Amino acid sequence: MRENFERVAQLKKEKNAVILAHYYVDDDVQQVADYIGDSYYLSKVATTLSEKVIVFAGVNFMADSAKVLNPDKKVILPDITADCPMAHMVTTAQIKKVREMYDDVAVVCYINSTLELKAESDVCVTSANAIKVVKALPNKNIFFIPDKNLAHFVAERIPEKHFIYNEGYCPVHNFLEVKYVEDIKKKYPNIKVLAHPECPRLVLEKADYIGSTSGIIDYAKNSDDKEFLICTENGVNHKLKLDNPNKMFIFNDLSICPDMKKITLQSVIDALEGLKPEVTVSEDLRKLALKPLEKMLELAK
Ligand code: 13P
Ligand code: SF4
Repeated sequence: MRENFERVAQLKKEKNAVILAHYYVDDDVQQVADYIGDSYYLSKVATTLSEKVIVFAGVNFMADSAKVLNPDKKVILPDITADCPMAHMVTTAQIKKVREMYDDVAVVCYINSTLELKAESDVCVTSANAIKVVKALPNKNIFFIPDKNLAHFVAERIPEKHFIYNEGYCPVHNFLEVKYVEDIKKKYPNIKVLAHPECPRLVLEKADYIGSTSGIIDYAKNSDDKEFLICTENGVNHKLKLDNPNKMFIFNDLSICPDMKKITLQSVIDALEGLKPEVTVSEDLRKLALKPLEKMLELAK
């Protein structure tokens, strides 16, 4: 393991590369990363880098966004098949249809989406900034794509706006059942439930805190409580344990994103050695997808 870490450090220097990682990737990949965070943090970081090469330890939509924000850098996704299923759960035809139905609609696109969907949208959001960004929009009608659970979570907090929903969901969060949460709460009466807004509504109703992966990590660190049920992907446990060695965290064993787990330490080493697989985006698509990403970064400030 130590040789692998040293190899990564050496390759990063040699290739003038930086590694960005999401909290859902394997522990050893998080350990070699220069920046680890939620989707909002990683998209902000992507606008500030000086290295020539960005290795993105995450899924497609994250690496694509980094490329859109950094057209002159080489962006590498160590496993090019690491793709978020939710990113495809709406079509551009559906967007066009909703635009025809409502004059003043704003299409709000969760960053977990393809570049083609972003290109047809007005603004992007992440789970960390969705409420702030949507509140800042002048539009009354909001078509929130692709995630139905995040859409309902945001809509409930902005009752003055009219939401049009889409049926997308994250398979890793959406399968969690309220019965599971209730059973854990029965077993551990003092446990606090920290949930990602991609979880179903009934699970969110049982939560003591709802937020992005970074939000969950910050909440657990600052809390005086000692026992937590974490309703998100298991990769978050790495940072939680580092920050809080004396607290207990329960995760559902099935909360594992197979696409995030495709990024292994070996795939990162291979990516650095060969500087591939490289993310490429046509200039026309890049310009269109850049607008909603920049608008998010502006409104979320
Ligand atoms: P955040 O880290 O932005 O909360 O995103 C969760 C997620 O599902 C990323 O794929
Ligand atoms: Fe997509 Fe869910 Fe995996 Fe995140 S955890 S990348 S939303 S499938």
